[in-house]
Amino acid sequence: MDDIKRIVDEVTQKIRSANIEILENIKSEYLGKNGVVTKILKSLSHYSVEDRKKVGFEANRVKSVIESGIKERKEVLKKASLAEKMRKEKVDCSSIFYFPFSKGSFHPVLQTIQDMSLVFKSLGFSIAEGPEIETDWYNFKALNIPENHPVKNVTDTFYLNDMRNLLRTHTSPGQVHVMEKQKPPVKVIIPGRVYRNESSDASHSSTFHQIEGLRVDKDVTFLDLKAVLTKFIHSFFCRGLNLRFRPSYFQFTEPSAEVDIQCLFCKGRGCSLCKNSGWIEMLGCGMVHPNVLKAVNYDSEIYTGYAFGIGVERVAMFKYKIDDIRLFYENDLRFLKQF
Ligand code: PHE
Repeated sequence: MDDIKRIVDEVTQKIRSANIEILENIKSEYLGKNGVVTKILKSLSHYSVEDRKKVGFEANRVKSVIESGIKERKEVLKKASLAEKMRKEKVDCSSIFYFPFSKGSFHPVLQTIQDMSLVFKSLGFSIAEGPEIETDWYNFKALNIPENHPVKNVTDTFYLNDMRNLLRTHTSPGQVHVMEKQKPPVKVIIPGRVYRNESSDASHSSTFHQIEGLRVDKDVTFLDLKAVLTKFIHSFFCRGLNLRFRPSYFQFTEPSAEVDIQCLFCKGRGCSLCKNSGWIEMLGCGMVHPNVLKAVNYDSEIYTGYAFGIGVERVAMFKYKIDDIRLFYENDLRFLKQF
C-alpha cells in the first residue's frame, strides 16, 4: 500500500511537467503491458482475499488517477499549443482592404457625362459647373428670355418657396456665370442636372442632365459650331454618322438650330427608337445672342460666340438602346448592373 501511495505522488509530479512525448512514456511506464501498476494488478493472486480487495481497489484507483491526470495534462498542452499557434499566425485584418460586396460601377448617366466630357476636352474645352438653384437673372433674364415668357410659369418651372429662387430649367445659366467671371476667349462645357415641372413618361422626366457648351472669341462663326458638333458626334458615336442642322428658335441664340443624328439602329429606315422618322434629335445650339453678350458686359461688336445644349439621357438612351428614360432614376439594380 505504501508503494501505491509513493507511485501516486511520483507520477502526479511527473505528469505536471510532462510534454506530449513524455506523457506517452509515463503511460506505458505505469499502465503498459509491463507497467508498474499493471504488474501490481497482475500480482493480486498472491494476496489473501481481503488484501486482494484492498490492493486491487487502490491499484485501480491509481490507474484511473494516472489516466485522468494524463488526459488533463494533454488538454492543457493542447490549449497552450493552440494559443501559441494563434499568436504566431495572427493576421491584422485592418491591414487588408477587404470589401465584402461587389465593387459597383458608375451610373450610366454619370458614365455618359464623363465619356462626352472626354471628347470635348480633346477638342480644347475646359469644364465648368454652375449651381442648381438659380435666380431669374441667370436662368431667364440674362439669357434674353422676356419677363412674360410662358416658360417662366410655375407650370413649367419649379420655384423655391420664396419665389425668388428656382431650380434651373437648363444648363444655359452656366454660360452667364462663366462669362461674368471670365473675359473672352471662353471655351467651356458645363455639365449638370436640370429640372422641369412636367409629368414623366418614357421620354420625359422632371429631372435630367445636360451638357452646355460655350465658345466666345473674335471671329467665331456658325461654321465653327458646325465643325465642333460634327467632330463631337463622329468621335462619340461613330465616324461618318449622318447628321443634320435644322433651323430652330431659342431666345439666347440667333440664328438657332437643332441637330438630329441618323438613327443608328435602323440606319435611318425607321424604328421605335426614332419614332419611325429615321432621325434622333440630339441637341439645341446657335450663335450667342448679342443681348446675352451685353448682359455680361462683353463687347458684342468685337466678340461672337456659339452655344449648345445636349441632353445627356437622350445620348445615353441612344448609345445603350434604352427606350424608357425613367429607368435611369428607378435604381433597379437589375438595370444598373448592366453598366
Ligand atoms: N438651353 C436649351 C434647352 O434647354 C438648349 C440650348 C443651349 C440651345 C444652348 C441653344 C444653345 O433646350
